[in-house]
Amino acid sequence: MKKGKKLYEGKAKIIFASADKNLVIQHFKDDATAFNNQKKANIEGKGILNNRISEHILSALKDVGIENHLVKRLNMREQLIELVEIIPIEFVVRNIVTGSLTKRLGIEDGTVLNKPLIEYCYKNDELGDPLVAREHIDAFGWASISELNLITENCLRINDFLQGMFKGINIKLIDFKLEFGKRKSDGKIILADEISPDTCRLWDSDTDKKLDKDRFRKDLGDVVEAYQEVARRLGILHEYVNNIRPIKFPKPTAVKIKKK
Ligand code: TMP
Ligand code: ASP
Repeated sequence: MKKGKKLYEGKAKIIFASADKNLVIQHFKDDATAFNNQKKANIEGKGILNNRISEHILSALKDVGIENHLVKRLNMREQLIELVEIIPIEFVVRNIVTGSLTKRLGIEDGTVLNKPLIEYCYKNDELGDPLVAREHIDAFGWASISELNLITENCLRINDFLQGMFKGINIKLIDFKLEFGKRKSDGKIILADEISPDTCRLWDSDTDKKLDKDRFRKDLGDVVEAYQEVARRLGILHEYVNNIRPIKFPKPTAVKIKKK
């Protein structure tokens, strides 16, 4: 697929035109930002890992009938996606309380929610992506109430699926952020953007070790190693990412069987 001109550059991704007016190319950068662009870094290999992880998750979601923008991965850093007009809302789904929710409402970090909580944030860096109500989304025409109901239903289905998928690889899905958009070809609302350790909180089920972007936000170190660990457990890390060697795990020690 021939790459056309740059259409948009975000903090972690670039969108290029393609030969088809309804399709674009999404390029994953190694750039990382936090706290609305106040903290910045280049994390070598992150874009490659997020491209692979997001491809894996969005393909799996497509297989269970959740329509999304992914057409196919093109190379290490790029995927072909359907062009959508992004709804300017970040849909945050939470299973366990942490992050901004702890700060905002003083609920104890680690509190397990009885049912998933969905929050809506207006995508606007200058305003710090403020929390908004469904009424704001309707009033300002960002999405109608019926569109919101459809998106909410999708958020819950995606949460169910992802929780199970991660549970199978001994990871707790704490919370995550989704974006939806209107497909250019037919106006249908579909899942867009990415799902990766940049957009999810993922904790090892046994140790609560953070395997996501909080390692960068909180200066915990080993950011790429954590993303690699997620990719490895998902079964998609078979090659070296840039020149970063995959984490070595000790070989299982041979068990001696005593002769009777
Ligand atoms: P928060 O606790 O900081 O509000 O984050 C909730 C979830 O949303 C967490 O999994 C990280 C993700 N997230 C993004 O993907 N992009 C963002 O800009 C923010 C603030 C959070
Ligand atoms: N959207 C935030 C930023 O740009 C990133 C985050 O905390 O995930 O800085």
